[in-house]
Amino acid sequence: MQQKVRPFEINDVQAVAQIFENVPDGWSESALRDSLSNDSIKSYVLEADGKTAAFASYLVADDAELVFVVTAENFKRKGYGGYILSETLKMLNMPCVLEVRESNIPAIKLYEKLGFELLGNRKNFYSNPRESALIYKLDL
Ligand SMILES: CC(C)(COP(=O)(O)OP(=O)(O)OC[C@H]1O[C@@H](n2cnc3c(N)ncnc32)[C@H](O)[C@@H]1OP(=O)(O)O)[C@@H](O)C(=O)NCCC(=O)NCCS
Repeated sequence: MQQKVRPFEINDVQAVAQIFENVPDGWSESALRDSLSNDSIKSYVLEADGKTAAFASYLVADDAELVFVVTAENFKRKGYGGYILSETLKMLNMPCVLEVRESNIPAIKLYEKLGFELLGNRKNFYSNPRESALIYKLDL
């Protein structure tokens, strides 16, 4: 399997919007397009055998904040989520923080496998459904 991680570009918008279709709070096609003109947002795609398999996006300032990581349904549990995060964290080369719904076990397990450490939580941070956020950090 050929896989490569590269910056997200305008030609990827449709494929990534499709990945987001069944994801709660997923980005729309227009949100994805708008993100390309925001200099603080850095996004990446993982191509596996020419197909868009995963997407990751960060808000970058003094550190990086992971805004979203998502793997296409038929590519899940094959290591792509971990690969796109580890490759992009190497490229960004800065500490990374993130928030995650406390019920999102696949994401929590993924972050902990990559070495993210739990810093704390924010009660009732999310709505629809109301839920607390766990805050994780990965130092360099
Ligand atoms: C979270 C997500 C990105 C993981 O992507 P993935 O490509 O399936 O992840 P990987 O195959 O790289 O898995 C790496 C590790 O994550 C954990 N993991 C992934 N899916 C899991 C699941 N369904 N249940 C438990 N652990 C899981 C495991 O520790 C796994 O390692 P293992 O396969 O050796 O056990 C994917 O489930 C997803 O797109 N979820 C919807 C979007 C989302 O909630 N994103 C996070 C918030 S922004």
